[in-house]
Amino acid sequence: MSGRLVIAVDGPAASGKGTMAKRLAAHFGLPHLDTGLLYRAVGWKAAESGRAPADVAADLTASDLENPALRTDEAGQAASRVAAVPQVRANLLNFQKKFSSQASGAVLDGRDIGTVICPDAPVKLFVTASVEARAERRYQELRARGADTIKPRVLAEMAERDRRDSERAAAPLLAAPDAYHLDTSDMDADAAFAAALAFIERKGFRSSGP
Ligand code: DC
Repeated sequence: MSGRLVIAVDGPAASGKGTMAKRLAAHFGLPHLDTGLLYRAVGWKAAESGRAPADVAADLTASDLENPALRTDEAGQAASRVAAVPQVRANLLNFQKKFSSQASGAVLDGRDIGTVICPDAPVKLFVTASVEARAERRYQELRARGADTIKPRVLAEMAERDRRDSERAAAPLLAAPDAYHLDTSDMDADAAFAAALAFIERKGFRSSGP
């Protein structure tokens, strides 16, 4: 490997960034942090307890991230709302910075990893897909889980979350200037992973595993 490998993966909801981050972490033997889960936990816990989101963010613990309800679309919408509060972002910053500075290296995925959390990461990926392709994926996921929903609603909610995440003043979803852009609209997870891996290997990083 050439130096400590930190991989920053950013992109909108259902772009495939989470799957990509997980696979890259397994391939390179690195710890992985899904930072969306932090915002989901803050949104969920604030709604449940009635406390201010910034206060919840200040004393969030690892066990708060284990709630299966955090994976729902409702939790995603709540996350997107609290994520626009600058003090929430400030209170989650140290945890993320500490995670990314581990000696082993790390993979983090989110919306502002390459721009705010790890601006010096040697590898930055910006994973996108059209809103239609992402809504279709989310719709199929929901159907597979037995959820009762309709496609236009999934598409409208996806577009609303995109708008909120991209237009907010505090650390909006934005590609770092040196990020590698990967549009997965017409790609499956294997093809997207192969493209990301080829980019990382061109930078001189290789898996040290078998
Ligand atoms: O990646 P996700 O869908 O689990 O993220 C949920 C919400 O959290 C997303 O709509 C925006 C917010 N988020 C953020 O603002 N910054 C991050 N680094 C990760 C997520």
